[in-house]
Formats: sequence, C-alpha cells, structure tokens
Amino acid sequence: MDRIAIIGGARLEGVIPISGAKNSAIKLMVASLLTDQPLTLTNMPRLADTRFLGRLLRRLGVEVEERESADGPQTTLTTPEIVSAIAPYELVRQMRASFNVLGPLLARTGQAKVSLPGGCAIGARPVDLHLMALEALGARIDLNEGYVYAQAPRGLKGAEIRFPAVSVGATEHALLAAVLAHGETVIANAACEPEIADLAECLVKMGARIEGAGTPVIRIVGVAQLHGATHEVTPDRIETGTYALAAAMAGGDVRLTRTRPAMVEALLAKMEEAGVEVRRLDDGLAIKRNGSRLSAVEVTTDPYPGFATDLQAQFMALMTLADGESVIRETIFENRFMHAPELARLGADIAVSGGEARVRGVAGLNGAPVMATDLRASVGLVIAALAARGETVVDRVYHLDRGFERLEEKLSTVGARVRRIRSGDEELEAAE
Ligand code: EPU
Repeated sequence: MDRIAIIGGARLEGVIPISGAKNSAIKLMVASLLTDQPLTLTNMPRLADTRFLGRLLRRLGVEVEERESADGPQTTLTTPEIVSAIAPYELVRQMRASFNVLGPLLARTGQAKVSLPGGCAIGARPVDLHLMALEALGARIDLNEGYVYAQAPRGLKGAEIRFPAVSVGATEHALLAAVLAHGETVIANAACEPEIADLAECLVKMGARIEGAGTPVIRIVGVAQLHGATHEVTPDRIETGTYALAAAMAGGDVRLTRTRPAMVEALLAKMEEAGVEVRRLDDGLAIKRNGSRLSAVEVTTDPYPGFATDLQAQFMALMTLADGESVIRETIFENRFMHAPELARLGADIAVSGGEARVRGVAGLNGAPVMATDLRASVGLVIAALAARGETVVDRVYHLDRGFERLEEKLSTVGARVRRIRSGDEELEAAE
C-alpha cells in the first residue's frame, strides 16, 4: 500500500489549479445511463472513484472513453443499450455512490437489482430516503439477500417527494429517476449542494425539464427520452477548501484557480475569523498568512450553504495550532472524528465527546506515522503534517487517491516537501 511522507515547515507560494468536483463527476457519469447518445464530460477529475464507477458502468453497457484534450481531461460515456441491470456487491461496496445507478436503470429498463452499499467508516449511511423516493415514483421495492430488487414495468410516475431529512444522494437519485417519469415530480426539502445544481444543469442540456435545483424545492416534468450533451464538471469545492486550509496551515501566499469562492463561503468566513487573509477573485481565490498565530474559532457542520462536513477534518487540523479552544460540531455523520486520535499522535490536544470535538491549540506539532481512515480525514492529516516539525508518514493513502487528483504534485509545485512512497519502493527499501 502506498504511503505519503511530508516534511513540515515549508511556506507555500504559487498557484494550484482546482480540478472538477468528484462528487459531481460521479453523478454526471451515472446520468449517461439515461440516454443511448453520447454524454461528454469536460474538466473531469481523474480519481480512483471515477475509475471504480467506470468499471461498474461498463458492466451495465456503457462505453467509457477517456481523452486528454487541449481543454483538459474529458470522458465520453455512451450507453447504446443496458446490457445488465444488475449492480453487484463487489462493485457497489467500493463506492457508495454507485447505488445511484438504481434509479436510472429502473427508469430506462423498468427493473434493476442493485446491492445495498452497507455502512462505512464515517457512519451507518442508510439508503432509506433513496428507496422512499423511488417508491413514491411508483417503483416496487423488495430487499433480499443484501440486494434491492426494483420494478416499474409500466415506467415511473411523477409524484410529490417530501424528504423528512436533507440528503444529497437521495435528492440526486430522485432527480435521476424523475426526469424520465410520466408527469410532474416535486422534490420538497431537497439538498441545495452545488453538485445538485450541476447535475440538473447537465440533465437540462440532455433535454430534461427541471426548475429549482440548488433550492429546497425542485420541480421536474418528465420527458419521454433524453439525448446526448457536453457538460463541464463544476469545480471541486472540497479540493478548493482543502488547499485553502493547507496554505493557511503552512503559511505563505497561494492562489487557487479554476474555482468559485462562493462555493466555499462558509469556510472562507471562518478562516477570516481565525485571522487568515482571503481574497475572492473572478476565477478563484488567494490565501495569505504571514507567521502570526491564528485564533481558535467554533464551527458546526451543516448542509450547504453551511460549513461542509467534508472540510471538517481539514479545519480541525488548522485549529490544532490556533490560540485558544475551538469547538467543532459534526451534525451530518455520526462517526466523523476518527482523525482526532491520529492528530493527537502529532501532538494535538483534542477531546471528543459525541458529536463535539474540543481542540485546544498547542504551540507546535511533531511529525509521526499516522493512519488515514477516510478520504477527508487523511487529507486533514496531510494538512497538519505541513506545519509539523520533522517527517509525518501517512499510511493507507488509497483513501486520498479516491478524491484528490495528483495531491503530492499539486502541493509540491507550491513548495511543500511531499513525496509518495510506492509499495514497491517500500519492498526495495526493506530489501536493501
Ligand atoms: N441519510 C439517511 N438515509 C438516506 C440517505 C442519507 O439517513 O437514505 C443520512 C446519512 O447517513 C447522513 C445524512 O443523511 O447522516 C446526510 O447524508 P447524504 O445523503 O446527504 O450524503 P451522501 O449523499 O451519502 C454526499 C457526499 C459526501 C458528503 C455528503 C454530505 C457524494 C458521493 N458523497 O454523501 O461526500 O459528505 O454528501 O455533504 O456526493 C466525500 O466526498 O468524502 C463524502 C463523504
């Protein structure tokens, strides 16, 4: 297994281009199941998660073609016909969002068999809201031996779907299923994340009729069929926030390009409150911090436009060196503080109780071997390591590879001392 070694203490100076959003790209790839014509996605991130999903989609009948053009990475997905409406456990468990193929398979073929994804490191993550939405649209759902069997032989029918709780995945799933349903669908208490507006924008280019995506009420009028389109994946707001926090932690002057500051406004406001200099630019943002110690600030994660749970671990890393005590509350997932004991290995002072972490800023961190537990937790450890004395080695880097494109390269170009230790190299080192 690869590891990443970071020697802390370097100031960061320069420009980091932001990639397309992982959490948009994977839902947009799924949308290709809804038409037999090509869907071309530009500004595609090249990540382990997009590769996992490509593997599943090929199994279902999608032709996936990747290209590096002058405009950047593109993927064209074409589904002449669905050759299988079965998504097996070994592919769905690798990436939970694969579960979202259920709605489009059902909409296009009238039936589907998709594995339940199971829990994951950050929480139980049930799919009851997804199933509720599909049932509201007229699907018959049966659960058997870990699989969802869904049927809608005469097609899905528009309906009112009122979610009792906000869910990004269930909102997207309802959208993906309703665009081909007969009649009108209203999704109430919809999630408002930018990735949902991005998915809706792409579906509209494909011929769907959708209004209100990005707000709590989305209206969809079903159409008989969709067609091909070309769509640019929206910038990755979590990658944006992560590098903004990396620059704030290490100190220096870093510009993030090809992104939109408005997508991370809740984070930027907290960074400014802590004492980081932030400039919002037309095509990105600039982050500056010179030596002075940051102040501890309180943060509570919330659905968009609130503070993103996917930036909580990285923000906690920043707070480990702030002046005072920061209270960080996690309200989205029940088990998303696994980075806290790993940060403690670097010398951080953190007390976790239920959904709350109290971070008492310390004068300095010291490098140590640490273990990545999930995608965002692992990049939180990288951020802490940028300001720690000596070397930190982060194990289980495959978590990072799921969602950060060329992380060590992007950080190295702005001056960080980061290198990947490939598992083969390790064996070589051991042999020497
Ligand atoms: N929930 C249910 N029932 C459901 C669906 C969700 O109880 O049927 C609960 C979840 O267990 C959780 C809460 O509702 O406690 C919110 O979950 P949501 O459905 O909004 O999250 P998701 O769609 O599973 C996406 C992102 C996550 C991100 C969350 C919240 C993707 C592929 N994943 O997950 O991203 O944390 O929204 O913003 O879009 C990541 O990228 O590292 C990541 C975990």
